[in-house]
Amino acid sequence: MLQDTSFAIHPGKEKQNQKALIYQDVGKVKQYKRTGNGFLFICENAQVAILFYTNSIVRIVMNPKGEPQLDKSKVVVANPEQLLIKEQIINDTIMLKTNRIKLHVQKAPFRLKVTDRRGRNLLVEGARGMAFRENGEVAVWKEMDKDDHFYGFGEKTGHLNKRGERYEMWNTDVYAPHNPETDPLYESIPYFMTLRQGKAHGVFFDNTFRTVFDLKKSDSYYTFSAEGGQLDYYILAGPEPKAVIEQYTYLTGKMPLPPKWAIGYHQSRYSYETEKEVRQLATTFIEKDIPLDVIHLDIHYMDGYRVFTFDHDKFPNPEQLIKELHDMGIRVVPIVDPGVKKDVEYKTYREGVLKDLFCKYIEGEIFYGDVWPGTSAFPDFTDQKVRKWWGEQHTFYTDIGIEGIWNDMNEPAVFNETKTMDVTVMHRNDGEQTTHRELHNVYGFLMGKATYEGLKEQLNGKRPFLLTRAGFAGVQRYAAVWTGDNRSFWEHLQMSLPMVMNLGLSGIPFTGPDVGGFAHDTNGELIVRWTQVGAFTPYFRNHSAIGTVYQEPWQFGGKHEEIMRKYIQMRYIWMPQIYSLFHEASTKGLPVMRPLLLEFPNDKKTYNLNDQFMIGDNVMIAPILAPSVTDRAVYMPKGEWVEIETGKTYAGEQTHLIHAELDVLPIFVKRGTAIMQTEWMSNVKKSPENMSMHVFAGALNESYRFIFYDDDGETFAYENGAYLKLELEVTCSEHGVEVTVVNEQGEYDPLYKEIKLNVIGLARNQKVKINGASRINIV
Ligand code: GLC
Repeated sequence: MLQDTSFAIHPGKEKQNQKALIYQDVGKVKQYKRTGNGFLFICENAQVAILFYTNSIVRIVMNPKGEPQLDKSKVVVANPEQLLIKEQIINDTIMLKTNRIKLHVQKAPFRLKVTDRRGRNLLVEGARGMAFRENGEVAVWKEMDKDDHFYGFGEKTGHLNKRGERYEMWNTDVYAPHNPETDPLYESIPYFMTLRQGKAHGVFFDNTFRTVFDLKKSDSYYTFSAEGGQLDYYILAGPEPKAVIEQYTYLTGKMPLPPKWAIGYHQSRYSYETEKEVRQLATTFIEKDIPLDVIHLDIHYMDGYRVFTFDHDKFPNPEQLIKELHDMGIRVVPIVDPGVKKDVEYKTYREGVLKDLFCKYIEGEIFYGDVWPGTSAFPDFTDQKVRKWWGEQHTFYTDIGIEGIWNDMNEPAVFNETKTMDVTVMHRNDGEQTTHRELHNVYGFLMGKATYEGLKEQLNGKRPFLLTRAGFAGVQRYAAVWTGDNRSFWEHLQMSLPMVMNLGLSGIPFTGPDVGGFAHDTNGELIVRWTQVGAFTPYFRNHSAIGTVYQEPWQFGGKHEEIMRKYIQMRYIWMPQIYSLFHEASTKGLPVMRPLLLEFPNDKKTYNLNDQFMIGDNVMIAPILAPSVTDRAVYMPKGEWVEIETGKTYAGEQTHLIHAELDVLPIFVKRGTAIMQTEWMSNVKKSPENMSMHVFAGALNESYRFIFYDDDGETFAYENGAYLKLELEVTCSEHGVEVTVVNEQGEYDPLYKEIKLNVIGLARNQKVKINGASRINIV
C-alpha cells in the first residue's frame, strides 16, 4: 500500500537498501591472543574466535558486533577437551595444529584454511571468507572441489547428494505436496557432510535464525549464511563418513535407547475417533495375526482439540481402554500439539495465563494464533519454568498408563500467511529475552525436551517414546522424527529413501515416513511396496489423512493383506538385529538405515544411490519403487551378496537384474557376515524365547565382527548392567566357518538360553567351529 504513497520515493530508501546489501569482510587481523584451547582474533571489522573441542573438532565463531559469545548454543552438549595445540607463525600465516587438523590463519585479510594432517583440504576460504551485512546477516564462502559430494541437511526432499542445491532452514508446516523444490520442511538441521574421494568432513552451523546453504550458485564455491546472530560453526575432520557422524553427535548428542515397542509396528489414522473403533482395530490385528505395538490417537480424541483432555462422549473411559490394550501388548500414543485453546473455562489455558507461561509480545500481549482448536496461545518452551510445567501436564496421560507422546504442529504451525508465530514475539529464553525470529527453529526442539523430560520423570524407570514433526540439530536426544504430510504417490515412496538416509547422516537415526502415504488415496500395490520398505525403515508407522481411503493392512484384502502380514511379521523376526543397531545408534550416533556410501565410501557408484539402502553394515535392501515393476537393477557393492529370497549369490562391484514379484522385497546379506533373528511375535510384550544367528558362509579369508545387544527393552535397568552384549566374530576360510565369542558383557537374563547357529551356504569341505563360551551358548 505504501508503494502508492510518497513513501515510494523516500530519500533514505535507496541508500539504505544498497548499504544493507553490501557484505563487509572481517578484514585484517590486528592482534590475536590465546587462552587454553581458544584463540581470539581481533580483526578490522569483526572478531573471530577459534576453539578446539577435540583433536578433530574445531569451532569458529565470528561476531560482527563484539567479542564472540561462546555460551549461546541451544543444543551443543560437549565442552572443549584438554588438548595439545601447537602454534606456529610462518610469514603472514598463523598455524594452529592438533594431531589431526591444521588451521592456517592468513592475517591480511583474515582467511581460514583447514587441512587434515595428511594435507587434505577440509575448508578453504579463497577470495572471500567470512562477512556480514548491516542488516545483521552473517555469511561465509568456501571453495568447492569438483569431486565434492554433499549429504545431511536433515529433512530435505530430492536426491541423496545435495550438490547443486540450495536449502533454507526454517521449520515450516508444509501440507502442499512435497516435491523436489519444496523447501524448507518441518525440521532444521544446519549440518552437512562433504565426501571427496572416499574421505569426509563435516560442518555444523550452530545458528538458530533462518539459515541458507547455497551449493547451487557456483560450481567452485559454496556459502552458508544466517539472517542474524553469529557465524558460529564447527568443522568435523572425519576422515571417514562414520567418523563425521560420531563427531557431530558428540556435539549434539545421541538418541536414547528406545523402548522395543517403539520400534515395532505402529498403526495410525487421522483419526480413529472412538473407543469402539480403537478396540475393534486392536482386535482385528490380533485376529489376523498381524503384529502391532502401537495405536496412535490423532486430534479427534480430545475435547474440542484441547490438549490434555479426552472427548468423553467418544472416549468415555480412556483408562480402561488403555489398560485393556496394554494387556494385549498394545500401547496408545496420543497426539499433543503446542496450541492451547483460548478458553477461560479450560484449565490448561487458565493456568497458562495466570502463571504467565505463554509466548508474548514485548508489550505484554499474549500471541494468539489459529490452529485446530481455533484461537490458541502457545507455551514459551524457551523457559525452564514453562518446560517444567508442560512436562508436568503429561501426568494426565502417564497416570492412565500412556508411555508415548506424538508432538505435531510444533514448528509452530499457525493457520496464517506466514504459517507460524509472529517473528517479533519475544521469548523469555531463560532470562535473556529473544525474538521468535531467532528462536523459531528451536521451538519444536524445546517442546520435545519439555515433553521427553516430563515423561521420563513420570514413568518410574520406563523408557518414554516421543515422536515429533519439528526439530533442530540435536532433536535425536528426545524424539523420533516422521517426515510429515507426504502423499500416497510412488514418487513419495521413492523420495522417502534419500530423505530418511540423509536424516540418518544428520545424527537422527529414528525416522520414517507415513507408510502408505498420508494425503491422497493409496492403493493395494503401493501400500504393499511401501510396507516392505517400512519393515526396514527405523520408524515404522502406517498413517493416513481424514477423507482418504482407510489403509490398515487388511483394507486391500486377499494377497495384499497376506503380503503386508508377511512383512510386518518380518519386522519382528528381524527385531534382534534392528534393536542391536539401535543400540549402536544410541552409543555411536550411527544410523540404522544407511546409504551405501557410509559403508563403501570409496565406491563412487554409491555416491548418489537413492533407491537402495543398508541396514547396518551387512544387509542391503533394494525395494521395488514403481507400479507394475517386478524387475530392477541392483548395484552390489564390494563383496558377495546372498539374496535371502532365493539363496542366490551375486558378485560385488556390478549391477544385477533382480526379479521381485509383489510379495518379494529384495534383501541381500553380505557373505562372510551374520544376522540375528527370532520368531515373529504379535508384539514385544512377549520376550523372545528363541534366538538364531544366521551366518552367510564366505569362502575368502575374511572376518567380520558385530555386536548383538539385548535387554528388557522397556526400562532403564540396562544402565545398571541389566543387558546382554555379545561381541561376535565370524571368520571364514576355505576350510571352514568359525564363530568366536570375543567379548561378553552385562547381566541380563533373556528367556532364550542359547543361540542357535545356522550356517547358510556352507561348502562341502567347510567345517563349522565355535570358539569361546558365553552364558548364552551358541549351539
Ligand atoms: C498434521 C500432521 C498429521 C496429522 C494432522 C492432524 O497434518 O502432520 O500427521 O494427522 O496434522 O493432527
